[in-house]
Amino acid sequence: MHPMQVRCLSLYIIMVPLVCLLLLFSTATHGLSDSEAILNIKKSLVVGQAKALASWDAKTPPCTWPGVLCNSGSVWGLQIENLELSGSIDIEALSGLTSLRTLSFRNNKFGGPFPEFKKLAALKSLYLSNNQFEGDIPDNAFEGMAWLKKVHLAQNKFTGQIPTSVTKLPKLLELRLDGNQFTGQIPEFGHELHLINLSNNALTGPIPESLSMMDPKVFEGNKGLCGKPLETECDSPFKELPPQPAIRPKSSSRDPLVIKIIVTVLAILIFLGVIIVLINRNYRNKQLTLAVETGPSSLQKKTGIRDADQRRRGRHKSDHRNGSATATGVENTKLSFLREDREKFDLQDLLKASAEILGSGCFGASYKAVLSSGQLMVVKRFKQMNNAGRDEFQEHMKRLGRLRHHNLLPIVAYYYRKEEKLLVCDFAERGSLAVNLHSNQSLGNPSLDWPTRLKIVKGVARGLLYLQHDLPSLMAPHGHLKSSNVLLTKAFEPLLTDYGLIPLINQEKAQVHMAAYRSPEYLQHQRITKKTDVWQLGILILEILTGKFPANFSQGSEEDLASWVNLGFHGEWAPNLFDKEMGKTSHCEGKILKLLRIGLSCCEPDVEKRLDIIEAVEKIEELREQEGDDDDFYSTYVSETDGRSSKGVSSESINLT
Ligand SMILES: *[C@@H]1O[C@H](CO)[C@@H](O)[C@H](O)[C@H]1NC(C)=O
Repeated sequence: MHPMQVRCLSLYIIMVPLVCLLLLFSTATHGLSDSEAILNIKKSLVVGQAKALASWDAKTPPCTWPGVLCNSGSVWGLQIENLELSGSIDIEALSGLTSLRTLSFRNNKFGGPFPEFKKLAALKSLYLSNNQFEGDIPDNAFEGMAWLKKVHLAQNKFTGQIPTSVTKLPKLLELRLDGNQFTGQIPEFGHELHLINLSNNALTGPIPESLSMMDPKVFEGNKGLCGKPLETECDSPFKELPPQPAIRPKSSSRDPLVIKIIVTVLAILIFLGVIIVLINRNYRNKQLTLAVETGPSSLQKKTGIRDADQRRRGRHKSDHRNGSATATGVENTKLSFLREDREKFDLQDLLKASAEILGSGCFGASYKAVLSSGQLMVVKRFKQMNNAGRDEFQEHMKRLGRLRHHNLLPIVAYYYRKEEKLLVCDFAERGSLAVNLHSNQSLGNPSLDWPTRLKIVKGVARGLLYLQHDLPSLMAPHGHLKSSNVLLTKAFEPLLTDYGLIPLINQEKAQVHMAAYRSPEYLQHQRITKKTDVWQLGILILEILTGKFPANFSQGSEEDLASWVNLGFHGEWAPNLFDKEMGKTSHCEGKILKLLRIGLSCCEPDVEKRLDIIEAVEKIEELREQEGDDDDFYSTYVSETDGRSSKGVSSESINLT
């Protein structure tokens, strides 16, 4: 997981639930109409399994009904799967659910044409796989669905062309159409998708450029497809190029070899022409360009970053060694590498790489870039880093580049320009802790269980301890710890990102956006201390245990999560306090409570009384992920209840060291 990616993703992911929560709160009073709407939906369904929806009953609130997903009393999702349902889907009734964002009717027996889901314009995901829907999907079936991210229509009996409206969905991430009878050519997509599966249809013709990087497997089972990434070449190389009206292959009876040669030469010329045009355009156009043209969108297209401000750089030759000059005469391609153990690439490789925006954060956007070698990198773009001059910036980056710790996401390289800096990091597969905590369930992924959460807390604490030790000159060596800046590896080992940036970020921006500046000591005394990172750790621990997103507590002041926990915590196990998604916690309550106390001690507003990072790490390390050791719930509970102070620090937990 890469820090840039993580942070961007997390920011993105944070904003979405925030907006949703706001929406949910604003509609939380509509429970009754939700109930009516769902009962109307039920009326239109034919239930195959007797009693399947029997508990959908006006006597009980809809949020207690199976398959109804709620947040704060509003219905945001219906997940009615594996019930042999058929009948019709009542879109009018569904549109009465004003907070509805996700809809799953997977594995049922619905038939007939594709319902008019576009009337549910706020939908984010639509899962209809494994049903018997049939017929052509109207070309405009997805028009106006600006939020739609996931469309799963696999294993139905859809026919006809893939509707082009689906390719224009601005937020689309996943599209599964496999196992249908779609015909015709695959349309060009406006941007790259995380997941696409078109296998087992009857699609024909060239695969569009925007999909030429996908795994060939996703096209399997379509006899008529050709072009990259498949081995079968299309008959005419023209088909792989953007259409050029001047040069359509003319049907002709001349010698096929001659035609092939002419065609190839023309193809090369056109290709070069297109490249020259693109390069020119990118030089002229400094603005962000949205990639809607054909072809995979490169980082350059996405960002408008130019690989050289050659003219200016020509005058500054002294301070960059050997920018690898290329055929186009571009000179400043120098990325400064901080790691010896990495494959080198230059800025041009990066700008050429096909890129996908991971998110836009407070300081700029992050992109996932796929280098030609197949390597995934995350590029984070900072526009608010004019605090430091070039030398100072480089010095600081070198210092950060020397850090080596299991729980830090390494910064691989950076690029310096006065008005803009890029940091290049590895890509983190599981994304950010924020995503895993707050969005996984709505994506249908399992949530983090208690042992995993404890492991993450431990890793984060170790990383912080290391930072404090190895960046002794910084008051808050991390300075921006929050769940979106913690990435998870495949094995759920946490990796901290965006550490050590306080000296570089413009002060005004930092004060608005960085976590350290939301600490009680800064809010009250405009002071950052050695314990400010500990406060951020405390908030993170509370977020991990409660599943509550700190910024959702009034005015984005994270202190309020701690107050909320303090209010609801009376020294004993309180199920409502903890994240229900944590799963089975019996026999672990003792440890969970201990960790909660540690979190609260880290959030102690009085800096003098707050734990320091060494104490916090020691206490956290004492907790074991495995069951069966020392304490159990009751002994801890009994011994700790009386000693707890209102600040959440129990004398017992302090004695534990
Ligand atoms: C695509 O879907 C098919 C089922 O139709 C599945 O077997 C295959 O694994 C999927 N491929 C990818 C790459 O997801």
